[in-house]
Amino acid sequence: MTSLVTRPPLNPLRPVKLLAAAVLIPGLAFTSGVLSAPAAPRERISINDHWRFTKGDPEGDSTGLIYDVRPEVEDRKDDQAADAEPTEAEKIAATNKLVLKPWILPAGNPFIKAPAKRHVRPAADATTNIAYTQFNFDDRSWQSVNLPHDWASAGPFYTGWGNGVGGGMGRLPSPGIGWYRKSLDLPAGDAGKSIFLDVDGAMSYAMVWLNGHLVGGWPYGYASWRLDLTPFIVPGGANQLAVRLDNPPNSSRWYPGGGLYRNVWLTKTQPVHVGQWGTQLTTPEISRECATVNFRVTVDNNSKQSAKVGVVTEIFALDAHGKPAGSAVARMGSVSLQIAPGESAVAEGSVAVKNPKLWGPPPTQQPNRYVAVTTLSHAGQVVDRYETSFGIRAVKFDPNQGQGILVNGERVPLRGVNQHHDLGALGAAFNLRAAQRQLEELRELGCNAVRMSHNPPAPEMLELCDQLGFLVIDEIFDCWERKKTPLDFHLIFPEWSEPDLRSLIRRDRNHPSVFLWSVGNEVGEQYTGEDGAKVAQRLCEIAHDEDPTRPTTTAMNYAKPNMPLPVVVDVIGLNYQGEGIRNASAYAGLKGITTPPQYAAFHAAFPGKVILSTESAAALSSRGEYLFPVSGGISAPVKNGLGGDSKKQQVSAYELYSADFGSSADKVFAAQEKHPYVAGEFVWSGWDYLGEPTPYYGARSSYFGVIDLAGFKKDRFYLYQSRWRPEFPMAHILPHWTWPERIGQVTPVHVFTSGDEAELFLNGRSLGRKKKGPDEYRLRWNDVVYQPGTLKVVAYKRGKVWATDEVRTAGDPAKLKLAPDRDKLSADGNDLAFITVTVTDKHGRVAPRADNRIHLDIEGPGEIVATDNGDPTSFESFQAHDRKAFNGLCLVIVRGISGQPGKIQLAATVAGLEIGATSITTILKTK
Ligand code: GAL
Repeated sequence: MTSLVTRPPLNPLRPVKLLAAAVLIPGLAFTSGVLSAPAAPRERISINDHWRFTKGDPEGDSTGLIYDVRPEVEDRKDDQAADAEPTEAEKIAATNKLVLKPWILPAGNPFIKAPAKRHVRPAADATTNIAYTQFNFDDRSWQSVNLPHDWASAGPFYTGWGNGVGGGMGRLPSPGIGWYRKSLDLPAGDAGKSIFLDVDGAMSYAMVWLNGHLVGGWPYGYASWRLDLTPFIVPGGANQLAVRLDNPPNSSRWYPGGGLYRNVWLTKTQPVHVGQWGTQLTTPEISRECATVNFRVTVDNNSKQSAKVGVVTEIFALDAHGKPAGSAVARMGSVSLQIAPGESAVAEGSVAVKNPKLWGPPPTQQPNRYVAVTTLSHAGQVVDRYETSFGIRAVKFDPNQGQGILVNGERVPLRGVNQHHDLGALGAAFNLRAAQRQLEELRELGCNAVRMSHNPPAPEMLELCDQLGFLVIDEIFDCWERKKTPLDFHLIFPEWSEPDLRSLIRRDRNHPSVFLWSVGNEVGEQYTGEDGAKVAQRLCEIAHDEDPTRPTTTAMNYAKPNMPLPVVVDVIGLNYQGEGIRNASAYAGLKGITTPPQYAAFHAAFPGKVILSTESAAALSSRGEYLFPVSGGISAPVKNGLGGDSKKQQVSAYELYSADFGSSADKVFAAQEKHPYVAGEFVWSGWDYLGEPTPYYGARSSYFGVIDLAGFKKDRFYLYQSRWRPEFPMAHILPHWTWPERIGQVTPVHVFTSGDEAELFLNGRSLGRKKKGPDEYRLRWNDVVYQPGTLKVVAYKRGKVWATDEVRTAGDPAKLKLAPDRDKLSADGNDLAFITVTVTDKHGRVAPRADNRIHLDIEGPGEIVATDNGDPTSFESFQAHDRKAFNGLCLVIVRGISGQPGKIQLAATVAGLEIGATSITTILKTK
């Protein structure tokens, strides 16, 4: 079966321009539109290395590069509550400034459905003679960088207020303008090919020039996008690429990062090729014996002649390393397409895979995957080969009691977390190993699902989720037309929401991990009745149009069952409302939204819709900080003297405290237990992240994480683990037991265990055996009087000893212990080792309050990329090689130098302490 689709017009620039550009490079010949015999049908080349970078526009350049007119706004304190009502869009005053938008908007055309709404590029070049875009510009004084690159993570941090960037955006210098340049060497053999620039993410308002010509750009910093460089390319030599990015201040509620912070690729194809994200595989029928795989392949014909194309797709199983294993398990083909010049056509087909190995989340299922290899032939030659990895799985949404999300027929309670995009000390610069480490720790927690809050993640993040078997809510926006911060993406929403959403879905629709599209988070349109619901309706229709197989949701912290918004979405996503907001007695009198528990009301109003908690908890803590007295309840807001210390800007790690609108984990568990039709929860948040340091906006990073910014586990980790992995024997005592100033004082002891009862001992003396009552998720010994020594817990399950834990009073810091997460690394310039430095006493016991400044030295073929300690208040640079321990720990991130295998030695020193050392071997990867 074939169908013809009308494609937006190709870039109307004429080759005349190109010949003009070619004059700059002597000895070049340019031929356009030649359908030559291909050597390699498709190349996807990483162009991450060897860029030049500078901040700011060229001095004295009078062109005034303006992407879009922005409203004038005043710098403001950014510590308003996360759940404050979003307000009306900023007003943009009339202006006669030249904006480059008309040259940028056409980049969105392939993702605009109605032909009449597509944009036409003005005939004239918008910009000429901008120094930084010119071939001959000497950029040797610019910084030399490799991508992914975040211009802000090196700091320095802004401190105080009104100096540029407050706590909300992470106090790092992400706002501003940055330029990147790279010379692309394109062989003469590239003549006649289609050549694309593929950017996985650029923060933000990107504009791209090639050989001095404005090619296009994309404003949304989290989107992945493609520009067709073909009309501007001069094959047979150097081509000058220049990218300008422009991050507005006051534009985000968290740290956005700045720069070309994800991977960038050059894709070369023959003029007839599989279109961008041109495959769509679905698995409508699945049984143990057989699965039906439906596929659609969009083929673009960028040549000047009509093309008759044969499309064949073969399916191979992928092994655990993502490599095709064995011979094809199914073959679809051959579909024949006749495609007019400048048009696209879609090949559709269906095939059966016998005895399919299904994709599903561990531990009960396995994330098995397949790859579909699509081959295009034209005039007797293979002109393209395109791979799409996918999974065969059935996801059912069942709103009934005890059901929720069923994967391959099995109920999978969502034990999810929310994750922002940054990677802690690495800033926003994407790194595969760092992302993998995040997921590995979440897996250890018992987490099986991630909500990508509140924007498209790096594509590799979804690849990792596929591989590891996490379920994913793929979310696109934090705001629509109404704003949360004055210069956030509400400014571009009207023009870009369709291209942003369609491109996200086309990019991500083949990932088996993605089970739900979220079109927004706590948007202001919750407050605008039918008008707001109309916006939601439009977005949901787009999502269904692009992907009829997955439902939509939007995360609601305000909309109630009797309002229009929840009617529109397929799945009810509730932020905090399920268990109630600011309604428990400990929260009485706080300012902001107050809501009684809503699960029952939503279930009654929408019996046909699955309900899940898109955000739960918003609990707060600083790892290893215990403040006294301790709340006697199960959930309380952070207050000075009870849970919080506004002077030190730290929150107690007793794990009872939350943001004003949140609840402790314990309270959320009880609410989930009471409402078994709820499909599960996504905790705010899995890891700490840069920015949004509620409740202390003088700090740099969040307190919400179950895991801190450096990747160290907070006590809360064990609270979730005890519930999410009920058959994993574990017990965990808090607090630490090194309190020389508390001798004789009451020091409550809490135990998290997957057991059902436990006995606590202090220096061998029993302090009693306690059993979890209904709705109890921790065991508490509130009256323990501190004496130094050993605190031990023995946990029981079903009457038998199940697990033990012990904490001992530590002496003064005496030694440093270094523990790398892996002792072998790939010497590819990307792979990372994460080394934990622990300050211990002379017996090797963790000194839990140590804050020594640790000096780090590295030798051999490696470099220290970043350091951290997880302290939200630390303003030490992430690049520093001297780093204070925070409650006994610090982290060093080391990278092997590309192509130089060998032994890296890392040493940690503190004057007066025994030195700590470790070594890591780097190896060349075998193919
Ligand atoms: C929610 C919001 C999240 C985050 C969280 C914790 O209201 O959706 O993005 O801000 O609160 O503050």
